[in-house]
Amino acid sequence: MNNPAPVLRFHERYPELGTDPIPVEVNTSPEYFEREREKIFQNAWWCVGRDEEISRPGDYLVRDIEAINASVIVIRGEDGAVRAFHNVCQHRGNKLLTEERGRCRGMVCGFHSWTYDLQGQLAHVPDEDQFHKFDKSCHALSAVTLDTWNGFIFVHPQDVPERGLHESFGELNALIGDFAYDDMDLVAEYSADVKCNWKYFIDAFVEAYHVESVHRRSLKETFNSQDNPYCHLVDVRLHERNRSVSCYANPQHAPHGAEALAYKVGATLAQGALASTTALKGTNFAGEKNWAFDIHIIFPCFEIATSNGWYFTYNWWPVTHNRTRWEMRFYMNRATNLAARVSQEFTKTLTRDTLREDLSTLENGQAMMETGRIKYMTLSDQEIAVRHGYKVVERLLAE
Ligand code: FES
Ligand SMILES: [Fe+2]
Repeated sequence: MNNPAPVLRFHERYPELGTDPIPVEVNTSPEYFEREREKIFQNAWWCVGRDEEISRPGDYLVRDIEAINASVIVIRGEDGAVRAFHNVCQHRGNKLLTEERGRCRGMVCGFHSWTYDLQGQLAHVPDEDQFHKFDKSCHALSAVTLDTWNGFIFVHPQDVPERGLHESFGELNALIGDFAYDDMDLVAEYSADVKCNWKYFIDAFVEAYHVESVHRRSLKETFNSQDNPYCHLVDVRLHERNRSVSCYANPQHAPHGAEALAYKVGATLAQGALASTTALKGTNFAGEKNWAFDIHIIFPCFEIATSNGWYFTYNWWPVTHNRTRWEMRFYMNRATNLAARVSQEFTKTLTRDTLREDLSTLENGQAMMETGRIKYMTLSDQEIAVRHGYKVVERLLAE
């Protein structure tokens, strides 16, 4: 980025988004959240995990998804197929599985031990003769719509979704559909329960304007350079509902100490800059030399960020208008020796510190918006992906 890009270039590319300030009410209004629940969350695909997490028959995950008022079991059957069910016992409605993940030979309810097989059929009822005209085959678990994309398992609250999963990925099929997800291992998981609106939360991850301030101790020197002191984005692609932003890396960044060691064997946050601009599938959609990583938001509440040798995902789980659960999963190239493992540990630690910084402003921001002393958010060209997020929600609520 030796020749600084023209200012306000993203607005010129997406003039339909306008330049008006965004009312904070969309982040503070319980009523607005209820409309989002009805129009957006109830019509969305929710990523509940990855295929390899439940690789054997009987492996399961349980996801409580408040935004759609559901608890969902995702389980691999005897036949190897993955299915999803509402986590509700068909006897008297007890929550069937209470652990977040596990492995079972059958799903046994803790109340009266009704037992369902791995395909969701009711298999055993203690003292069955005492039920009137009883037919077990009429009491199977209620199925939830499920589909997978590149090993990511998604569920949908509707029996017949308006849009299929592949269609929901839209342009992202081309941008990140061929990334090497299967070559990577899960190396770290972080989560937090944050008192802020889900949109306001996502905003903090689709702009790099905050790097100079929020990450001044951890990452500023990694990403910001003399040529690009405010970490201007390399590129932005705004899709119909999804968004993609590409982040800059400082070419003068000289790793030292532990980072220098980690850098030698890979798996550092900024190692995108070491990659050839076109060699890695599913990365660097702008083909920029000084590139760190790309962020893709799969509307409404899932993110996949891809780079050289790693990717991570974010799940945002809206709970109320001002509460959101968040989970981050970090995947890296399989470590084949001790040095690569040490490198992973370094990057995990740096990432954890960075995430702490990212989350540090959210609850204060939400609380201050709720004081009513700010009516609008004023967004720069560098925050156009923030603007896009609000515009998509506004459009869908108006449909
Ligand atoms: S509520 Fe599940 S067995 Fe009775
Ligand atoms: Fe950040």
